[in-house]
Amino acid sequence: MRFYIGLCFGPAGVGKTLSARRCANWDLAEPLIEDWGPRSPDDDRVHAALVRSRAVFYTASVLGTWRDLRDTVYEHMEKVGICIREHIGPAGLRRRDHGRSRLVDVLIVDESERLSNTAVELIRDIFDRTGVGLILIGMPGMEKRLSRYPQLYSRIGFAHHYRPLQSDELTFVLTRHWRRLGLALDEADFTDAQAVASIARITGGNFRLLERMLVQIGRILKINDLSTITDDVVEAARSTLVIGAT
Ligand SMILES: Nc1ncnc2c1ncn2[C@@H]1O[C@H](COP(=O)(O)OP(=O)(O)O)[C@@H](O)[C@H]1O
Ligand SMILES: [Mg+2]
Repeated sequence: MRFYIGLCFGPAGVGKTLSARRCANWDLAEPLIEDWGPRSPDDDRVHAALVRSRAVFYTASVLGTWRDLRDTVYEHMEKVGICIREHIGPAGLRRRDHGRSRLVDVLIVDESERLSNTAVELIRDIFDRTGVGLILIGMPGMEKRLSRYPQLYSRIGFAHHYRPLQSDELTFVLTRHWRRLGLALDEADFTDAQAVASIARITGGNFRLLERMLVQIGRILKINDLSTITDDVVEAARSTLVIGAT
């Protein structure tokens, strides 16, 4: 089986990193992979998670050299492979696990727009040598830049454009946040509808801005002992944020 390259791109704050780390179970795996200290009985939970994701998550750095990149990626693939093997044992190995592909199915590279030209070539080399699937995550525009690398570009199997939350998705998220604040969001209620519209306008459906807005809204409710999120509350929350700086 041959894996392909996937591109995921979208503006800052739409949830690219969070969703990729979730897929890779990386919040769980990262401490173990990074520290690689003495084993503990707790590790098996992490091994099991890595058997499910079979992924390595790597964040391209601004100043890192291509050697750092190569060494870190290979090392992390090796370590994740060891964790997987630990959990499934020799009997559980699939046919392709014996090949060069090791046991990792996918390498996810976040902030790919930071990759230098050499680093892009290196990533393609890792892809070619190991046969690992590759997902490149980055800002819009990254896909155009990669089109200058025909050998890589021709192997792209899919491109996913992350978009900000649309209005029904935003309402869904806000309903849950309202509930967390002990309130009930009612779309038919004028005050609620107005507050939702303001939040939509201010955040543009951007998760990061939304999160920061909601923290401020929570604080303003508490400080002023309010139990309704009105347009004024939303406006007060907005004024505490420097919108645009993410
Ligand atoms: N599905 C989600 N549900 C709730 N919050 C989210 C979700 N996705 C992202 N966020 C929040 O939005 C913020 C930005 O997400 P992030 O993944 O860092 O965006 P990006 O990598 O696209 O810039 C984070 O603080 C994160 O906690
Ligand atoms: Mg990110």
